[in-house]
Amino acid sequence: MVGKRKIAKTTDLTNGRSSQVRAGAHQSKNVVNNHDLTPSAILIEELSICKDPDESPRPDFIMELLERLRYADDAALGTWLVSFAGPDRERRAALATAIGQAAHRLAPDGEPPAQGAAAVAWQSLLAAADHLYGSGAHALGRLPFLSEQLFSRLVDEGRQQMPEQSATDRRMIGSPGDVLANLAVSRQLREALSQALECAVVPTYEALYEYDPPGSHVSTHIDRSGFEFTFHLILEHATSRGVVAESVLIAHRPGHRKPNRFRVRPGEALVLRGRGTVHSWAPLGADERRTLTSIGFKRSAET
Ligand SMILES: [Fe+2]
Repeated sequence: MVGKRKIAKTTDLTNGRSSQVRAGAHQSKNVVNNHDLTPSAILIEELSICKDPDESPRPDFIMELLERLRYADDAALGTWLVSFAGPDRERRAALATAIGQAAHRLAPDGEPPAQGAAAVAWQSLLAAADHLYGSGAHALGRLPFLSEQLFSRLVDEGRQQMPEQSATDRRMIGSPGDVLANLAVSRQLREALSQALECAVVPTYEALYEYDPPGSHVSTHIDRSGFEFTFHLILEHATSRGVVAESVLIAHRPGHRKPNRFRVRPGEALVLRGRGTVHSWAPLGADERRTLTSIGFKRSAET
């Protein structure tokens, strides 16, 4: 058992935002196609729309950011954003959340702007997120300590923890049972991730099952607080005919137009620098269904 088990009941790792492409995508494309706007003006547009008292980041932080962005240096916008947040932990977290929301609006369908001021704005978001928490992911394949028996127990528990089916085409979340909770704090997993990430990590006691229904799309986002490093293990991904399918995590890279694409099949895992990487999952086909785990880790205070 895990002494301190946090349970995500209603939201996934996208800061409570929908995991689907939203209607706001249409408006965002209009901003992207407006060639009169500067990169900072595009960010102001996107962040103004994101402003929502029910969602983090804090409204006062966003108000200040919107005001100051008008005087930002467009030639070094990513650096400017990080400087604006400063060293304060909460402000850095608020900026990361704002970056995730603006990135979602600039690339709601997963296709980021490639030209002009919108592309500069997009790249500034990637650079700032990378600056704050580091970006990238590591494919782990099949972990040596993940026996067939342990994997089956996770699959079984994942099925048991699945919330009651409802008419939704959005990601659903399940609470961890003992099997996932034990994996989340296991020494083997901590050591495997520390080695892959080349820094000592410790669990954040955040773990959950995620269920992606047919036709769903986990679109552009960064992970929420508690998931600086996110461990994903694919438990099930198959078509309705039982044909095993491949999941694709798309991780955008600062300074690059093309993202990295990580391909994972059931039984395989990866670790993502979830808080500093703008990312998405490739949409599922109309008859594909997927279950995966998400386990949060953070940098050890001893490093
Ligand atoms: Fe994510």
